[in-house]
Amino acid sequence: MREKIIVALDVDTEQEALALVATLRDYVGAFKVGLQLYNNGGPAMVKRLVDAGTKVFLDLKFHDIPNTTARAAEAVVGLGAFMFNVHATGGRKMMAETALAARKRAAELGIAVPLLLGVTVLTSMSAEELRGEVGISRPLEEQVTSLARLCLVAGLDGVVASAREIPSIRAACGNDFLIVTPGIRPAWAAGDDQNRVATPKEALQLGADYLVVGRPLTAAAQPQEMAKRLLLELEG
Ligand code: C5P
Repeated sequence: MREKIIVALDVDTEQEALALVATLRDYVGAFKVGLQLYNNGGPAMVKRLVDAGTKVFLDLKFHDIPNTTARAAEAVVGLGAFMFNVHATGGRKMMAETALAARKRAAELGIAVPLLLGVTVLTSMSAEELRGEVGISRPLEEQVTSLARLCLVAGLDGVVASAREIPSIRAACGNDFLIVTPGIRPAWAAGDDQNRVATPKEALQLGADYLVVGRPLTAAAQPQEMAKRLLLELEG
């Protein structure tokens, strides 16, 4: 069960990240390096984490022209991340070229191809924001499902989506398609800025393949105790 938990290392320094990895590594499967840590520590830090035996999900959510995201994907493969992602709204061509570039580079290096996920709609976003601010008029769930289909067609391994959208994504994309869900909030944790949340147990029962958990663990006074509690909740 612990393999399904990915901890978001949303901290500023490599030192803080290493401390969290040391504290939590026996209770979780992987660690996510996102924009905050990456822009503080850079690619060399990611490489050091990987070389020290940490499974890293590099969450940089690429969204650019196909050539740029494809070349960036080659760099990600070189860093040894086991998972990375792009925004699905970048379109089919961008996603397909990125996936192809990652496969080619991994073959050249003789290493495993990292899993490539598409971000559908950020879990912090509400239906009102999506419609009123971003101008997407179709219902949020339809937007998520349609983008998930596009990811599948483009050759991606799966999507990042809220647990609430899992049933419709499964129906549209099948059981082999990975669903990685952030916005995980145990009943005993605060909601923070996440809007479309689920408890770990709910996400698992709905069929999530991986759960991304950040602040409920990393901002806790005793992260290890919280991780144990989380595992118990998942296994119970
Ligand atoms: O602290 P919290 O559990 O909310 O952290 C969730 C993590 O998942 C953050 O690092 C955030 O960047 C990331 N994420 C997200 N929604 C997405 C994709 C990634 O919250 N759609």
